[in-house]
Amino acid sequence: MTVFRKLLLPILIVLFCFSFLFIFVENNQKLTFEFSSSIRLEKYFPSLPKTDENNPKAESAAEDLSKSNDLKNQINVERPVLSKLTGACALDREVQSDVGKTIEPKYKLDPTRFLAVAGSRGPNNQIVSIRDSIYLAVALNRTLIIPPWFKHDRGDPTSNGSTTAIVPFHQRMDMSKIKSLISVIEPEDAQQACGEDGFDIIYRLQTICQKENYPRVQAIEEYYNFTSSSSLNLTYYCQNWKKQQLAPFETFPPPDELKSYKAGNFLQVASLADARKKLSSDHKCPVASYPYKCTPIMRQWHKPEADDGELSKAIFEHTQRPEHLEIFVDSFVRKYSPDKKFLSIHWRYDEKDWKNEQCKAIQYKLICDNFDLLSDSKAIADFLGKHLDKIGGEEVFDFIYIATPPSEMELIHGVQREFENQGRLKIVTQMQLIDALAENYANCGEKYEDLRFEILSLAEMEISITASTYYLSYGSSWSFNVAIERSVMGRGETISNTEIFSDLKEGKKL
Ligand SMILES: *[C@@H]1O[C@H](CO)[C@@H](O)[C@H](O)[C@H]1NC(C)=O
Ligand SMILES: *[C@@H]1O[C@H](CO)[C@@H](O)[C@H](O)[C@H]1NC(C)=O
Ligand SMILES: *[C@@H]1O[C@H](CO)[C@@H](O)[C@H](O)[C@H]1NC(C)=O
Ligand SMILES: *[C@@H]1O[C@H](CO)[C@@H](O)[C@H](O)[C@H]1NC(C)=O
Repeated sequence: MTVFRKLLLPILIVLFCFSFLFIFVENNQKLTFEFSSSIRLEKYFPSLPKTDENNPKAESAAEDLSKSNDLKNQINVERPVLSKLTGACALDREVQSDVGKTIEPKYKLDPTRFLAVAGSRGPNNQIVSIRDSIYLAVALNRTLIIPPWFKHDRGDPTSNGSTTAIVPFHQRMDMSKIKSLISVIEPEDAQQACGEDGFDIIYRLQTICQKENYPRVQAIEEYYNFTSSSSLNLTYYCQNWKKQQLAPFETFPPPDELKSYKAGNFLQVASLADARKKLSSDHKCPVASYPYKCTPIMRQWHKPEADDGELSKAIFEHTQRPEHLEIFVDSFVRKYSPDKKFLSIHWRYDEKDWKNEQCKAIQYKLICDNFDLLSDSKAIADFLGKHLDKIGGEEVFDFIYIATPPSEMELIHGVQREFENQGRLKIVTQMQLIDALAENYANCGEKYEDLRFEILSLAEMEISITASTYYLSYGSSWSFNVAIERSVMGRGETISNTEIFSDLKEGKKL
């Protein structure tokens, strides 16, 4: 009995949890990734209060405010004179602050060996992919080739439903920050670096023939102007050979080695040394196909004593939104609160995507059992109002920003109106943000039109990262990325948005 209790029981519990996770990932491949439902938040955010601790400490928000402007001091990148931007479209490559400058990277990497990356699925997963790739580039000592991003096939109407519509890297991330961290080459130099044949192997970090992902390898080859892209004819392989069960495509590690790592759908590396053990090869231009949470950075960034703790933290600090967007968001927020004292709430419990997929799992019982409530503007407004009374929110915050996908805009607009009628705290949403963005990027014409959904999502992200307090939405990788950045940057408190239903929540665990 004691042996059973001490040894077998914990093992059985662990096995049970893992098999559940595995089955879940297997069955829900299409959506799990963009939602990251398998994440245990407390594991990644030591500062996050336990979910059953029913006590949002609103006062701490004010203290945390003082920390929130430290980023620029932490990252010592020379800033351009802002007047340089006046008149020019801030989205143009020429006006980005890294152009025409030599930036010394913290990690100098071998200039004769490269690493390209094809990002996984939606925009938030692609951010995870690029962070993983930076870790791998440092581990393998390879210069990173700046990748293109891809539009969201479902969330961005300008993609026309395509998973290969390209967005240049600098439109989502600040180039000078990444350049100050590691050695990179620009997309325009990829052809010269790799030769016309382009990629010589696939570093297989995730199953290679997923239909949203594999067409991207060819799309990247075309983007880099690799003229003879037949050497890695992944599209042809996934459409034809795979169905006929012909020999696996040329990937690394080779299939039998991969098997010995028990990789499953994902290949994971536990450390820098482990990455070198699993992914060292003599190839010149491998493409990492589709890294997704395959490195330990999310576990390591708050452990400076760990070998790769410092690198992990630096990766988050150097993968931030473009500077012009930071500047825009700063002035947008100050319109409503000169001291930037505000609460941001992410609301993402939509019936179609979220409920259908996430309520198959047991971990969101509280949300799934009360879904009607979550779809009712009046109920949300009442609960939010009561919650603010309880924490003294009207004194602590100047306004509330509610970030939401377009499908939930009507619902949130209802909450906004309800608050207005009750004379409560001001709620700001996309409706105000879209107008301000259009005005800010008015001189960008077509370029802004094409990128407006990207920019809207990035701006909402920046707002939520800046907020003195942030209420995240469970099971959303957008929320997850915001929460982890807030944590890394030492911003204010992050808690679950279900906290506003604390009356319902009494005695239950999420
Ligand atoms: C990468 O290799 C170069 C030699 O080519 C060496 O000088 C450099 O220190 C290495 N960088 C890292 C981060 O290992
Ligand atoms: C989507 O369709 C429109 C209209 O046909 C076209 O102008 C645009 O280039 C297309 N976008 C993509 C990413 O294919
Ligand atoms: C590919 O070639 C086209 C046409 O010459 C050029 O406009 C584009 O900038 C090139 N792309 C890259 C990434 O080098
Ligand atoms: C891929 O291979 C097939 C069969 O060999 C060939 O027909 C096709 O043109 C190739 N595609 C590319 C982009 O090279």
